[in-house]
Amino acid sequence: MKDIGIAPSILAADFGYLMRDIKAIEKNADCLHIDVMDGHYVNNISFGIPVIQSIRKYTDMKFFTHLMITNPGQYIKVFAESGSDNITFHVECSEDPDALIEEIKSMGKSAGIAVHPDTPIEDVFPFIGKVDIILVMTVYPGFGGQGYLDISDERLRKLRKAIDDQNADTVIAVDGGVTEDNIKHIYDAGARLFVAGSSVFHAEDPEKAIDELKRCATLS
Ligand code: DX5
Ligand code: ZN
Repeated sequence: MKDIGIAPSILAADFGYLMRDIKAIEKNADCLHIDVMDGHYVNNISFGIPVIQSIRKYTDMKFFTHLMITNPGQYIKVFAESGSDNITFHVECSEDPDALIEEIKSMGKSAGIAVHPDTPIEDVFPFIGKVDIILVMTVYPGFGGQGYLDISDERLRKLRKAIDDQNADTVIAVDGGVTEDNIKHIYDAGARLFVAGSSVFHAEDPEKAIDELKRCATLS
């Protein structure tokens, strides 16, 4: 199997049965994507620290925490202490991303930077080689179940080239609208870690859906 990871997004899980839904995917998934929304940076409110602390007790999965919040710097420490393994913040939300990346790393966590579809992709180029993950938003952040934005292909190819030119090992992750039908061309454009909400948790068999996404991505 080629190098590929699937990160199911619990935003699409049934919050009334959250642990049941996580248990259903924990064997096949590579990490768990956790969408934190504050109602300011995005027009939606999801959940926060107490939920992460609670689920941390019942699974050993790696937590990939996506902060869709203004002023992320204020919260790095609490999210690190709540059990996140990766902390990803938006480039649009920080005046000093380098300082946040350093802080995340100093807490022994993997660091990620996310980029909104309306932000030039070049804005994250300075962080290539500094962060572990660049998360390219392939829908408008705030809600699950949206369609993949076609403008993303070109953005991914530009980012892939910039990373390869620097021989860096920063991973390109994509977030939003990933399905069995489009994952191959997103893989071919350069992404290697795929956040998938609806296409995993709304599938009849979420575990099988993960394998199927991987199979479709790497078809030759
Ligand atoms: C959107 C979130 C995504 C979302 C993806 O703001 O960041 O992680 O859960 O959901 P799907 O896969 O349904 O587009
Ligand atoms: Zn997300």
